[in-house]
Amino acid sequence: MTVESVKPEASLAPELREPPRAGGGVPLLGHGWKLVRDPLAFMSRLRDHGDVVRLKLGPKTVYAVTTPALTGALALSNDFIIAGPLWESLEGLLGKEGVATANGPRHRRQRRTIQPAFRLDAIPAYGPIMEEEAHALTERWKPGETVDCTSESFRVAVRIAARCLLRGDFMDERAERLCVALATVFRGMYRRMVVPLGPLYNLPLPANREFNRALADLHLLVDEIVAERRASGQKPDDLLTALLEAKDENGDPIGEQEIHDQVVAILTPGSETVASTIMWLLHMLAEHPEHADRVRDEVQAVTGGRPVAFADVRALRHTNNVVVESMRLSPAVWILTRRAVRDTELGGYRIPSGADIVYSPYAIQRDAKSYERNLDFDPDRWLPERVKAIPKHAMSPFSTGNRKCPSDHFSMAQLTLITAALATKYRFEQVAGSDDSTRVGITLRPYDLRVRPVAR
Ligand code: HEM
Repeated sequence: MTVESVKPEASLAPELREPPRAGGGVPLLGHGWKLVRDPLAFMSRLRDHGDVVRLKLGPKTVYAVTTPALTGALALSNDFIIAGPLWESLEGLLGKEGVATANGPRHRRQRRTIQPAFRLDAIPAYGPIMEEEAHALTERWKPGETVDCTSESFRVAVRIAARCLLRGDFMDERAERLCVALATVFRGMYRRMVVPLGPLYNLPLPANREFNRALADLHLLVDEIVAERRASGQKPDDLLTALLEAKDENGDPIGEQEIHDQVVAILTPGSETVASTIMWLLHMLAEHPEHADRVRDEVQAVTGGRPVAFADVRALRHTNNVVVESMRLSPAVWILTRRAVRDTELGGYRIPSGADIVYSPYAIQRDAKSYERNLDFDPDRWLPERVKAIPKHAMSPFSTGNRKCPSDHFSMAQLTLITAALATKYRFEQVAGSDDSTRVGITLRPYDLRVRPVAR
């Protein structure tokens, strides 16, 4: 333990500064109206006001962290936990006992249970499924026909997560139902988070009914998956078996609710994030044909013309850099929150116990202070000789510290493989009526991207 890591509160307190207040607040609403009206522009400009700034959201003070170094310090510090309005609204809908919202010893125990399924050496076992799904996508799409990128990206993301992690023949049909339920649930969930109208969401309006039906179906599907696995008596070496066999802190089997919430907590972040990233990758392939061609050339050089395989992924360096650069400019996860559990500090600024902290990977990853030609799509910035110029924590789409996404290797493998398979078989063009403007929800994605595949 270093001397710096010991932080007696009394000796720190006197020299700590109050973070500056961000400009542009209005009476009563504070900065809330700006955050609702144009959240990405608002979060991106905050660094001009300071490294840590105070925001007023209605009567509440929220602290925004704006530099890569301090977002890293925040994610790595034990003074902050997962909490805040974002998480509370998720808990209400998806369950309180899953890994994504737990803290403390329960969180550590749950991470130990799920981690083996995501370890680097576990990923090759998923290779055949990822390959099959990536090629099935290119077979499903026909040259000249319009592809609805939203539903297709969701479909492949859910199918890969469900088939790899919850193995079983029945998953094909279930994966389809999961897609439909999750797409509707995510749409409604964001609305409920940013416009918390409480009981109004119980009114028997068509949109509420559709949301409630989808949410009920999601929970029912998870119950069916768990019940069927139990009834089968099979114990394949997968995440579901690990969850069913998990023990709590006392060595007793974990409860039914926790098993259920764990499956939900893994499927939900695992589908929306990957689906959004695939939509942005399709957008990139359509908008940057020169990069699509370079991906195709690399794949051909590696495969010699046979269909790209999971085993090729490690050799596809440029394709990997294209995926990373796309995630830099269009990160699925654009906002994250934490809550201080004690009086503490960040960058010499006082953070009181109970304070909600917010930061935006979108703003951090597009910041001109960290990236030369920051808004250019330039996959070569990730070449070993150039990557050193990028500040630590300036590119952290999977976060860092104890809440880091367990699925970084799993996600990068499938995204690289899908990009390689798509760019080899097709060029893409956006069609009339496609809306590629950014839709801000729980994740960032294009509003309604539609492309036409053109055979190569
Ligand atoms: C957590 C991003 C794919 C499961 C996270 C976090 C980020 C993230 C940023 C941390 C949240 C925080 O710090 O507050 C992404 C991105 C993905 C992706 C960008 C794909 C492009 C997946 C997949 C799965 C998954 C495929 C599972 C199949 C989880 C879980 C957590 C998590 C369970 C909670 C971890 C914890 O709290 O300990 N993800 N994720 N993610 N992700 Fe992912």
